[in-house]
Amino acid sequence: MKILDFRSDTVTLPTDEMRRAMAAAEVGDDQYGEDPTVNRLQELSAEIVGKEAGLFVASGMMGNLCGVLSQTERGDEIILGELAHLFQNEVGGYAVFGAIHPRTIAQRRPCPELADIAAAIRPRAYNFPRTALLCLENTHNWLGGAVITPEETKAAADLAHTHGLKVHLDGARIFNSAVAQGVDARDLTRHVDTVQFCYSKGLAAPVGSIICGPRETIERARKIRKMLGGAMRQAGVIAAAAIVAIDTMRDRLVEDHVNARRLADGLAAIRGVSIYPTRVETNIVAFELDPSVSGERFRDACAADGLRLSSYGGNWRRLRMVTHYGLEQRDVDSALEIMSRALANVRGPVETHAD
Ligand SMILES: Cc1ncc(COP(=O)(O)O)c(C=O)c1O
Repeated sequence: MKILDFRSDTVTLPTDEMRRAMAAAEVGDDQYGEDPTVNRLQELSAEIVGKEAGLFVASGMMGNLCGVLSQTERGDEIILGELAHLFQNEVGGYAVFGAIHPRTIAQRRPCPELADIAAAIRPRAYNFPRTALLCLENTHNWLGGAVITPEETKAAADLAHTHGLKVHLDGARIFNSAVAQGVDARDLTRHVDTVQFCYSKGLAAPVGSIICGPRETIERARKIRKMLGGAMRQAGVIAAAAIVAIDTMRDRLVEDHVNARRLADGLAAIRGVSIYPTRVETNIVAFELDPSVSGERFRDACAADGLRLSSYGGNWRRLRMVTHYGLEQRDVDSALEIMSRALANVRGPVETHAD
């Protein structure tokens, strides 16, 4: 039985070309700045998002942490949407390592409302923390992979800059956003100060992310990465796969988006599922089960047939499926059949959920 793993695009496996590039990678000690493959990846990546410099990091979370800590001082406040990955899923790292105070604002859309951002920026005063940074996320994980447009990015960033804030973009899936909107990634990054993106999600590299921005900020980030224990040595072995990822895997993301839309349309036709297919813009499909269905039983019934799904925040009534390299259209169709069957079998007593 083929396991249909729709939990995340992080489960993607490296391509043969990536494995060959890893085996052949020219390497050196990156802490001396002497790994030519890491250096090439950093230059290439910075150029793709139109920034001066880039720093290869172990994960998206480390990239976000470096982005926040390199642009704040201890005790500063940062503004985030209440559904930001940085706020929901990153263990409060900026508070632990940087003594940063998070100020969350309402999040109905991927880009928070300008009025809400403006209202959260504190005046400079003796008894307030300094508002230092606005964080955006594109595409937005908790909001089902929805995109922020170049115009929205500019408006939010202009507002932040007018008040002396910096802007960090969690662009874990920035190329999904660019491909879906038919724009260059630079159109989505031009107005922000720093951007983090991941090689290890839809682009299918085994490891790594990058933080890009002004050279001076990236130098600060380099020191922070060291402090976090994330400075590496012959990291060219993994950087080589990341180079193949950005060279060969960006354009094919459109296939994942087509599959996601097919999945969403199919889900909309299943009784007991609530979904708005037209809101599926990229490779993430978020949907809800109706209250007559036990989410855990549904998950287990799907798993027994080889289909894996994930939930938002551990609430198995709000589910997430992510399309990615390695999953074809026929896998989407099989997944729909499995879910249809599972739903018919698991209608049961109403459960209550706290998390
Ligand atoms: C929007 C977003 N940002 C950041 C991350 C963190 O990436 P990583 O798992 O590589 O730390 C994720 C991971 O799923 C994500 O979805």
